Amino acid sequence: MVNIFALSSLVPAALQMAVAPGPRHGYVSYPPSRQALCRDVPVPGCGDVKYEPQSVEARKGSFKCNGGGERFHELNEEHLWVDYFTVVHPDHAPLNFTWTLTAPHATSTWEYFILTEHNTKLISFDYGGVTPGYTVIHHVPLRGYTGRQTILARWNIADTAAAFYACVDVDIIPPTHKECLD
Ligand SMILES: *[C@@H]1O[C@H](CO)[C@@H](O)[C@H](O)[C@H]1NC(C)=O
Repeated sequence: MVNIFALSSLVPAALQMAVAPGPRHGYVSYPPSRQALCRDVPVPGCGDVKYEPQSVEARKGSFKCNGGGERFHELNEEHLWVDYFTVVHPDHAPLNFTWTLTAPHATSTWEYFILTEHNTKLISFDYGGVTPGYTVIHHVPLRGYTGRQTILARWNIADTAAAFYACVDVDIIPPTHKECLD
């Protein structure tokens, strides 16, 4: 069963690549990633990613917000983003990350790392080559981390060496603080 499925999914992927090279695009829309903020706020000096937040594509394996590619170096410049942390109140629940895909593609894994805590991996999701829909939501456990943190989300494409990168700056309010406000 698994082999049959893998084979049948290869055919449309190959056709898609022949017709339109490089259509594999997506970014984290909520909590807003740096590229989403660049387009929507916009953040001063955040560069050309404003026009294509879905295009932060580079080789797999990087821990840089731009994936270590040649484009979009502004995503790595911490001083640009210090005033744009999104306050979240997960209250022990997982934080839900929404990816908006403009071109879904066969996926190997999605990975989440907390860059501000020595690149610790929070979770990964194995899609085994499946092509997702246009909206993907992941429940990401925060493992007790609080305060201002930068989370890197990586979308690893199954049939190329590429991944898509999105850094998300969140200010995680601890549960006790929220209970005081209630
Ligand atoms: C994320 O989604 C799950 C399931 O829908 C929900 O239980 C959880 O409360 C959500 N997390 C937040 C922080 O809203």
